[in-house]
Amino acid sequence: MKKIFLFLCLFLFSSSYAESERQVQVFLLGTGLVGSELLHQIDQSREILQQQYGVEIVVVGAANSKTMLLNSAGLTLEDWKKSPKDLMSWDSFLDAMLNGGFSHPVFVDCTSSVEVAGFYEEILQTVPIVTASKKANSSLFEKYKNLHEKDAGFYYDANVGAGLPILSTIQSLKRSADEITRIEAVFSGTLSFLFNSFKEGVLFSELVKRAQEMGYTEPDPRDDLNGMDVARKLLITAREAGFTMEMEEIKLEMFLPDSCFKAASVEEFYERLKEYDPVFTEKRRKAESEGKRLRFIAKLENGKASISLQAVDQSHPFYHLSGNDNIASISSKHYCRNPIVIQGPGAGATVTAAIVLEGIVLESLKD
Ligand SMILES: NC(=O)c1ccc[n+]([C@@H]2O[C@H](COP(=O)([O-])OP(=O)(O)OC[C@H]3O[C@@H](n4cnc5c(N)ncnc54)[C@H](OP(=O)(O)O)[C@@H]3O)[C@@H](O)[C@H]2O)c1
Repeated sequence: MKKIFLFLCLFLFSSSYAESERQVQVFLLGTGLVGSELLHQIDQSREILQQQYGVEIVVVGAANSKTMLLNSAGLTLEDWKKSPKDLMSWDSFLDAMLNGGFSHPVFVDCTSSVEVAGFYEEILQTVPIVTASKKANSSLFEKYKNLHEKDAGFYYDANVGAGLPILSTIQSLKRSADEITRIEAVFSGTLSFLFNSFKEGVLFSELVKRAQEMGYTEPDPRDDLNGMDVARKLLITAREAGFTMEMEEIKLEMFLPDSCFKAASVEEFYERLKEYDPVFTEKRRKAESEGKRLRFIAKLENGKASISLQAVDQSHPFYHLSGNDNIASISSKHYCRNPIVIQGPGAGATVTAAIVLEGIVLESLKD
């Protein structure tokens, strides 16, 4: 009964709302850091997008894992925070989006849910997707391929380097029939910060603790230190560069001993990490004595993908990396003497939400 009422409301809205020429109706899943920031940016950019492009973004649905809000008048971040919500029902949310009679619905995924990514193929039959989540593009190659063959728009630039134009540069090179020969990258803001800040007089375990206190790591820092997020980004990058690759083909060399990952709690992890401090200090001193610096580098060369801690010298573009920047160096047949180097903040809600917003705008501009 509730579902019928919901549809009625949505149908009345979709047929009576005075649409601008380029209106899209957003169904946003995930209202955490990125999703909330996106709602904020949609509110803030309303006028400018209308003036510059004649685009109108109406958020008609928003949900997290527990609750959802469907609002025929369009909803704002304030509405999401203050309005009473329904219990989240994925079926109702999906039905409203797919069968609500909207002129140009867009599904926006700001979760990192594997379950949600599993619905992309069905959604993309009719509704475009803009996603911050890496889960779909880093699943099996067959699934990745299927998603990229669907007619509806699929926007996922935020998957690698957040707002940095890494995937779009690779796509642009491919469109000019260029051949990508080598990509090197630091894809993790957390690991970038850790190795950029690892200097004489600092213990590695203290740095990890500091990064956690500054909110640079996941609640369990091992979720960053295990390199899995970097592996997902490298896999997506390799696929975009034209390689048929699965996750198992990536050679990931951990730089922490097993004892750190096997520790039963975060506290115990820090104890194990402290035991490893002398080894880390020695690695850093050895690199410095050779005029080098340690960097956690993802590499794609000759169709092979690997991730490892490496010492780079002054001639390498990553030597001067600072803060928590990401960096990618892309070589191709056309860019063979000097690579294209893209550097900047590769995480954070502001830049990530902005590139998601761009995906929504690009979709609304499609004829
Ligand atoms: N933060 C960044 O700097 C950054 C950069 C690049 C890409 N990304 C990607 O952007 C996505 C969002 O990141 P975030 O930092 O915003 O994460 P977050 O703060 O943890 O928010 C995740 C949101 O997803 C919701 N969610 C999870 N599973 C769901 C489900 N099955 N159904 C409905 N909602 C669900 C969560 O709801 P509950 O709160 O109810 O659990 C929460 O609202 C992730 O895929 C991340 O990898 C983030």
